[in-house]
Amino acid sequence: MKIGIIGAMREEITPLLEIFGTYKEIILGDNSFYNIFYKNSEIYIAYSKIGKVHAALTASGMILHFGCEKIIFSGVAGGLRADLKVGDLMIATKLCQHDVDISAFGHPLGFIPESKIYIQSDSKLNDIARLVAKKHDTPLKEGIIASGDQFIASAEKKRWLIETFGADGVEMEGAGVAVVCDLLKVPFCIFRSISDSADGEADVSFDEFLDSSARVSANFVKNMVDTLLQ
Ligand code: ADE
Repeated sequence: MKIGIIGAMREEITPLLEIFGTYKEIILGDNSFYNIFYKNSEIYIAYSKIGKVHAALTASGMILHFGCEKIIFSGVAGGLRADLKVGDLMIATKLCQHDVDISAFGHPLGFIPESKIYIQSDSKLNDIARLVAKKHDTPLKEGIIASGDQFIASAEKKRWLIETFGADGVEMEGAGVAVVCDLLKVPFCIFRSISDSADGEADVSFDEFLDSSARVSANFVKNMVDTLLQ
């Protein structure tokens, strides 16, 4: 099996590269892909750079160039629900693009003609994630993730995301990966550990907790890969 693991920032994949240890670097589209042979399978790890376009390119490269059959995203997110605290881990049940607005033509926010507002992540991968969480006694939360090319750091915008999309988490890449995987029919799942609450203090919290929260997600993804390959 070939599995692609994407983070947005170097900090989000560093713990994974440390865990797996030995890798070969392949450059594609000015982006480094770290190729690992593990348990008779191949893993490709890359950080895409921030934003939906970069994430979509990385996911496309993993699938169309390297032949990845499953895509896992590992990283951090802003928590929009009161019970999503820094360090908590969540999977996205479905994702939307909160910055898509062609409402001038009567479309609902987040909707693109011939597409859909929400894209579901793969239910089988999510079931495996739930099993892995149980096995390792790791609390795993679930919810809707809204992605957009904006770092959310205001109570007002946070409220708008909850009211408009029913969002539980916010980040800047997941929906880009979701669109690519959905169109190319490749199962995907999105893991995010909370780094901030997307409010007025989000920037400070993000800087403080990026590394530790990224590590929470990466450790879980390693267990997920072990379960997929057993
Ligand atoms: N990733 C982590 N925290 C975020 C936030 N507050 N907004 C957007 N992306 C994020």
